[in-house]
Amino acid sequence: MNSKILAIESSCDDTSISILHDGRILSNIVASQAIHIQYGGVVPESASRAHMENILPVLNAALDKANTTLEEIDCIAVTRGPGLLGSLIVGITFAKGLALGLNKPLIEINHLQAHVASLLIDNSDITFPFLCLTVSGGHTQLVLVKQNLEMSIIGQTIDDAAGEAFDKIGKLLGLPYPAGPVVDKLSKLGQAKFSFPIAKTQNYDFSFSGLKTSVLYFLKKELDKNNNFITENLNDLCRSVQDTIINSLTKQLVKVMHEYQLTTIGIAGGVSANSGLRSAMHDLSEKNKWTILLPKLEYCTDNAAMIGYLANYKFENKIFADPSFTPLARYPISTP
Ligand code: KG4
Ligand code: ZN
Repeated sequence: MNSKILAIESSCDDTSISILHDGRILSNIVASQAIHIQYGGVVPESASRAHMENILPVLNAALDKANTTLEEIDCIAVTRGPGLLGSLIVGITFAKGLALGLNKPLIEINHLQAHVASLLIDNSDITFPFLCLTVSGGHTQLVLVKQNLEMSIIGQTIDDAAGEAFDKIGKLLGLPYPAGPVVDKLSKLGQAKFSFPIAKTQNYDFSFSGLKTSVLYFLKKELDKNNNFITENLNDLCRSVQDTIINSLTKQLVKVMHEYQLTTIGIAGGVSANSGLRSAMHDLSEKNKWTILLPKLEYCTDNAAMIGYLANYKFENKIFADPSFTPLARYPISTP
């Protein structure tokens, strides 16, 4: 099938547009929003405003890079949710305008399903079923993926997401938002000198809010004795926190892999860019003889290429959206 898809992602604080030709990614432009750094987290109102400013230049850059014109596009795909409503509305309204103007069909995409689908980019010979650990700023899920991308959640966080834990604990350490990549970088220079608890949860679920509280109390106690404690131990603190998050993720993942007798595992979402998690996954896959799927770094954090990749699958199966669809702040994962 000869198809050119234009995909739009605007669910949180990244404005992204990608052009794909028969599932091949021709361009994937991402504009990240620096405005949120000064507030230490995403401010929804500022995010929607920044999407509005960014979306047209991002579209032009994506078309240029792909050497494509709007007239050559066969279909418009867009993230429907989950995400921030104001941010989703910008992408969806833009997508609907383009589809109407060009008289082309629309495809709506579940952002979490797209993170899972990002594992298939550059990995077309995957064997099903496989397990995907989706770890992002808003979600932490263990997703069982069967033939035809049939997806079901086996376990998930009962409070904070793994990326949220990196960001919130990083904030306690005085690091800028988003703290995940900074913790990752500093961890490489430190040792896991401090030990923090891994929460006990039911079944295959996760919990990270206790870790945040435990780091908070630990820092208070140490800062009372030495008010330079954080600066003097920053690298070791980062490494200790990062290792605790990784251990709590891998503990549950190993349990599912064994109990479901799976041999293929992937990680997706922003936290899957973490070098410690990637190396832990390599070690586990060697030890257990698993096949491991690690998306390229550009497909880990929010991007429109993964939206387009899943849209291409829907296009081939003629799964189009009714143009009156609305954004969904919550959008449970299911079969596309
Ligand atoms: O998937 P994503 O871009 O957006 C959401 O859908 O949430 O994930 C963003 C999250 C942030 O919490 C960020 O701190 C985290 O991913 N992150 C990392 C790394 N890169 C991004 N966390 C740890 N290590 C990294 N290298
Ligand atoms: Zn995401």
